[in-house]
Amino acid sequence: MSHLDPNKTRTAATYSAAADHFDAPPLAFWARTGRRTVDRVPLRPGHRVLDVCCGSGASAIPAAGVVGPTGSVLAVDLAEPLLERGRARARALGLSNIEFRCADFEALGLAPGELDAVVCVFGIFFAEDMPAAVRRLWRWLRPGGSLAITTWGPDVLEPGNSAFWNAIQAHRPGLYKTFRPWERIDSPPALRAMLAAAGVNDVSIESDAWQQPLASPDDWWTIALGSGYRSTIDQLDAPGLEAVRRDTLAPLRARGALAAQVNTICAVAEKPARA
Ligand SMILES: C[S@@+](CC[C@H](N)C(=O)[O-])C[C@H]1O[C@@H](n2cnc3c(N)ncnc32)[C@H](O)[C@@H]1O
Repeated sequence: MSHLDPNKTRTAATYSAAADHFDAPPLAFWARTGRRTVDRVPLRPGHRVLDVCCGSGASAIPAAGVVGPTGSVLAVDLAEPLLERGRARARALGLSNIEFRCADFEALGLAPGELDAVVCVFGIFFAEDMPAAVRRLWRWLRPGGSLAITTWGPDVLEPGNSAFWNAIQAHRPGLYKTFRPWERIDSPPALRAMLAAAGVNDVSIESDAWQQPLASPDDWWTIALGSGYRSTIDQLDAPGLEAVRRDTLAPLRARGALAAQVNTICAVAEKPARA
């Protein structure tokens, strides 16, 4: 991969670093959300699927299971260590119909109409111009093909999220909430409006409110290390890291927090015959 812009370079670094905790038990919400998204797509054996921002395969692997050996999944991400995890998981499951490719999904050169389905879970908001990115994905679908986009709803990973940002505000205010692009589409109307701006209408949207169980309040820090918070954490020096970890976990321990909120919004649309 060449010529990534600074935002994408930072995203690749963040998720490459997060790969060491990405599939830990407190982050089971990746797998749950990926599978639930795939369950909403009318996939059939033999279908060709593109999964963008695939991570370690939370949605790509279930999709590969459904489309079977006559179908295929191209799973794309910027973070090579996550892709490597995905390849290992696919190998362990005996799935040979899935390719994990390190690439920028906004720079893929696919042919119009070549795909039966496109899936993107927790990823579309990384595109600065989301409607333009969706228009491109939509073009690659055949008429009758499906697009599924899942994103964060409100109160992402609370109560730990607030505890974390309060600790950052106290110790490194310059790092406070500098990158929260999903907030542009964190309600069904906002997600619908973004898709309409891309020319994707007739969308079925479902919200899902769930709680990721935690074995202990300290598990929230594992979530932070295995997700986008990692970008902020990796900018802390050793004393800052210790203080932020301490002040994130203290309120969670005090209230005995044994869950993190995972509210998601999933949009599915079928491309009409004349799109
Ligand atoms: C929050 S993770 C979600 C991963 C996976 N979909 C899941 O739910 O487990 C977002 C992923 O999007 C990837 N990503 C962000 N921008 C991308 C781009 N332009 N092209 C490919 N992948 C991208 C990141 O590297 C990261 O792995």
